[in-house]
Amino acid sequence: MPRDADNGMIRLVVTGKIPQAGLDVLASAGISVEAWNGDKTATRAELLKMVVGADILVTLLTEKVDAELLDASGPQLKAVCNVAVGFNNIDVAACTSRKVRVTNTPGVLTEATADIAMALILMSTRRLAEGERVIRSQTPWQWGMHYMLGAGIQGRQLGIIGMGAIGSATARRARAFGMTIAYSGRSNASEDLEQELSMRRMSQEELLATSDVVSIHCPSNDSTLHLFGAQQFELMKRSAFLINTARGPIVDEAALVAALESRQIAGAGLDVFENEPTVHQGLINRDDVVLIPHLGSATLETRAAMATLAANNAVRLARGDEPLTPVN
Ligand code: DGY
Repeated sequence: MPRDADNGMIRLVVTGKIPQAGLDVLASAGISVEAWNGDKTATRAELLKMVVGADILVTLLTEKVDAELLDASGPQLKAVCNVAVGFNNIDVAACTSRKVRVTNTPGVLTEATADIAMALILMSTRRLAEGERVIRSQTPWQWGMHYMLGAGIQGRQLGIIGMGAIGSATARRARAFGMTIAYSGRSNASEDLEQELSMRRMSQEELLATSDVVSIHCPSNDSTLHLFGAQQFELMKRSAFLINTARGPIVDEAALVAALESRQIAGAGLDVFENEPTVHQGLINRDDVVLIPHLGSATLETRAAMATLAANNAVRLARGDEPLTPVN
């Protein structure tokens, strides 16, 4: 691991708290690691100080890696290894222009995130969070033939926006619940996958007009910013639900609130928000939305696997090898 700095060792900075499994990988590779250990996420000022002189950064979604941070780190910076599959916290173009490699953690969080998408489909269509609030608030209730009826999903169409790994894992779960699948996105799924899930590709317009549940699984970037706005909600069925486990900025939250208020759509299940951790006030008191705090990959096993993959990428880059899951 060549490095010309003071002690001759690669200096790696982990900018947030990561599972021990990831730290163990770094320790066993003999890399000098400085890991943020504060109780709270580092402030921007703390972050800018922490990265000075680092060769490699292991970052979390809460850290914005932009030109300012790259400059603060210095010209020796080789790589930024994000402990997440999404990398919208990183200015990849700024990294590339400085010859800084970027990696992410695809694959290891696919099933956990698809579980959450399926959970949100069930919670939204069957009014589970609303029902739980009734019990917890000790509101009087009684079983009734017409009490708190939801929408059945058997035989209903799930429209997947972005048939990547998480989209197809969600579709598999939905098939097991009796849903039919349609998808839209930039590319065709393989014929095998289309056959396995008995699904077909549609234009986004057709998918929105025909789906009973629409689930978002595309990446967040300039071209998907506000992919869902007033126009898209107008195309959807009034009985349809929107599920988002991808990234908040893909949905224009103000337009979603307006669509819910005018009953343009029936409800939504959201794990991610446009301005996380702030949630649009118009969503907070609505019974027709399920709101959970970005839990897609939040299992012990998945977070350990994410940290391990990010650490392995960092070790490979420190040794001058190709990372396992490069972004640039
Ligand atoms: C990711 O990895 O991008 C997830 O959103 C983190 O939960």
